[in-house]
Amino acid sequence: MTVIGQIEPIQARARAGIAAVATLDDLRDLEAELLGRRSALAGLKSAMASLSPEERREAGQALNAARTAIAALLGDRRAVLESAEMQRRLEAERLDLTEIPAGSRHGRAPERGHLHVVTQARDHLEDVFVGMGFTVAEGPEVETDWYNFEALNIPSWHPARGMFDTLYVELGEPESILLRTHTSPVQIRVMEGGEPPIFSIMPGRVYRRDTTDASHLPNFHQIEGLVVDRGISFADLAGTIDAFTEAYFGRGIHSRLRPSYFPFTEPSAELDITCVVCEGSGCPTCGRTGWLELGGCGMVHPNVFRAVGYDPEVWSGFAFGFGIDRLAMMRHNIDDIRELVSNDIRFLEQF
Ligand code: PHE
Repeated sequence: MTVIGQIEPIQARARAGIAAVATLDDLRDLEAELLGRRSALAGLKSAMASLSPEERREAGQALNAARTAIAALLGDRRAVLESAEMQRRLEAERLDLTEIPAGSRHGRAPERGHLHVVTQARDHLEDVFVGMGFTVAEGPEVETDWYNFEALNIPSWHPARGMFDTLYVELGEPESILLRTHTSPVQIRVMEGGEPPIFSIMPGRVYRRDTTDASHLPNFHQIEGLVVDRGISFADLAGTIDAFTEAYFGRGIHSRLRPSYFPFTEPSAELDITCVVCEGSGCPTCGRTGWLELGGCGMVHPNVFRAVGYDPEVWSGFAFGFGIDRLAMMRHNIDDIRELVSNDIRFLEQF
C-alpha cells in the first residue's frame, strides 16, 4: 500500500480512539501513541525515504495535514475532558452556605447585638421612676462653674470642691467651663426651666479626673432625682428611695440612710442598699456588712432654692444621686468597672 493510502486508516483509528477516551490521563497516553516517535505516522514518515522526490513532497504534505488534524482532535477532546473535570471538582468541593446550623456561634450569620449593660440599667431605672410618676430630664455634659458648683452652694473657696476632681475645658475664663462632675447641675436647669411641683430624674454621663482602676473610671454615669413641692419631708425621701429599691432590685432588698454631708442638701445622707449578692447576711462583696453604698441624698439646701429664685419658705424638696455603672455592677455581680468599657464581646454578650 502507498504511504498516502495508509494515512486515511490511521486517521480513522485516531478519530475513533480520541472519541472513546474518557480521562485526561488516557488522553495523554493516546496522544503519545498517535503523534509520538513510535506512532504509526512517525513510521510512515521514515518510509517516505524510499519515495521519489515528487511522491515524497505529496506524501509529506498529506502526513502533515493528518498530523494537524489529529492534533486538533486531541485538543478539542482535551478541552471537553478538562471542563468535565472542572465541573466534577466544583461539584465535589461545593459548600452549602444556604443554611447555618441553628444557634451556631461559628456560622456566618450575623449575630444580633443588644444594648450595653449600662444602657439597659439606665433604661430600667427610667422605667421604674416613670412608673412612680417621675419625668426624665437631661442636661449638657459641658457645664459652667455656676451650674456644677456655685448654684449648688459650692463657692470657689468651698472645701467640698476637693470632693470633685474636676476636668476643665480651655474656654473663656480659666476654670469657668468644665466637664460636669455629677448630674446635680441638671437639678438647677430643671428648676430654672419651670415651677414646682417637680418630680424628675436626670440620668447622664459625668467626668472626674480619676485614675482608672477596678472601681474608678474618669467617665461614668449617674442618675439624679429631684422632688420639689409644698411640704416635702425627709420621710418622703426615705420612702421614695425604699420604694425604688424594691421596684428595681426586687423583694428583700431595702435601703438605709446614713448621716453624711453634701453642700447642696441639708440634712444629707449616704444611701446604702441590702447587699444584692448575700441579701444582707454578709459576704466579701459587701465587706461582711450586708450593705452596699449606692449614692448620696438629702433635703434640698435653702441656698440652692435661692440660686434659682425659689422661696425656701414656700418650697421644700429632696434630691438623690447615684452611679448607674455601680448599680449595673451590683446587679450582675461584676467586680471590675473597666470591663464595662473594654468592649470585649465575650463580656458584653453575657448581659
Ligand atoms: N452629686 C452627688 C455626688 O455626685 C450625689 C448627690 C446627689 C448627693 C444629690 C445628694 C443629693 O456625689
